[in-house]
Amino acid sequence: MDFDACDHVRPIRWMGDRLELLDQRKLPFETDHVVCADADAVAEAIAELVVRGAPAIGIAAAWGVVLAAQALTRADPSVDSGDAALARLQPAIAELRKARPTAVNLAWALDRMCGALRATGVDWLPRLASQAEQIVAEDLAGNRAMGLAGAQLIEPGSGVLTHCNTGSLATAGFGTALGVVRAGVAQGRIARVFAGETRPWLQGARLTVWELQQDGIDATLIADSAAAHLMAGGQVQWVIVGADRICANGDVANKIGTHQLAIVARHFGVKFMVVAPSSTVDMATASGADIVIEQRNPAELFGVAGKRHVAHGVRAWNPVFDVALAPLIDAIVTERGVVAQPDASRMAAFFAPKTSA
Ligand code: MRU
Repeated sequence: MDFDACDHVRPIRWMGDRLELLDQRKLPFETDHVVCADADAVAEAIAELVVRGAPAIGIAAAWGVVLAAQALTRADPSVDSGDAALARLQPAIAELRKARPTAVNLAWALDRMCGALRATGVDWLPRLASQAEQIVAEDLAGNRAMGLAGAQLIEPGSGVLTHCNTGSLATAGFGTALGVVRAGVAQGRIARVFAGETRPWLQGARLTVWELQQDGIDATLIADSAAAHLMAGGQVQWVIVGADRICANGDVANKIGTHQLAIVARHFGVKFMVVAPSSTVDMATASGADIVIEQRNPAELFGVAGKRHVAHGVRAWNPVFDVALAPLIDAIVTERGVVAQPDASRMAAFFAPKTSA
């Protein structure tokens, strides 16, 4: 398929000495960029959701390490090995690591950047930058592969419902779940696309339907609370979502509301697909019960676009991820292939580290 024809939005621009991030807090009506000149600015942008989506925050963090490394060479040009640089970069890496807790891609990307530094010589800085470039290139290629693999599972003429934003805005491009939507629409398999609003931050309403509109893909926005009614009416054959962390037993942490979609889908016989790169798989976390669920400011529930609609003095609870349990999932699609009916043994067959004989 012609991937570029249906994939125009890019949230992250590396400019050689700074990182430009499309400010996702302002979409869809303003397309502003936040310029990050150092690693602290990148960490802040991740924490504040200027850039969001599991793969995208990993990519931004990787470039944050490069910015920290450039600052180090300016301050001390005598650093002549990757190991020496790594020791000096630890505070910046630690700041980036704690920017958000749930998406494992953040720690994964930082670990890869650390790995690239180990045992390198005087050329440690260009090698570090090329590691970040590689992470970007692999993410885009992986998304395209997952898009095609996921679309294969969908019967022609199907309707799909997606949640949150898993598109180019959340990745290096093409998207994970939204990549399957792009491929499925291009191949004529998907006839109807529905996107949930994704309260409280409105990733679906503000980002997903806008992103699809940029690429000429017709989509219908629904209130999150309309999902059961939609599925009951038979308009949807697959729910397709991304992931922030996939556990060793196949449990999946994703945007709040994902778990209830999985339960409702099972009730109505609608299939449930999770699409994520293998960088989202965390075999060190046994099950969803072990995942740290990010809690954000309850004020996100009190209003929209700065306009308060909740009485003062009301309490709110704002977990921004939940866990869809493995038995509710029909397929986990990664760039390594499809894990059908995921459980601990099927996950291990795909993702357990290979031991050499
Ligand atoms: O809080 P966000 O917007 O970063 O949450 C994003 C999601 O939950 C996405 O569904 C997930 O990261 C997959 S993005 C390809």
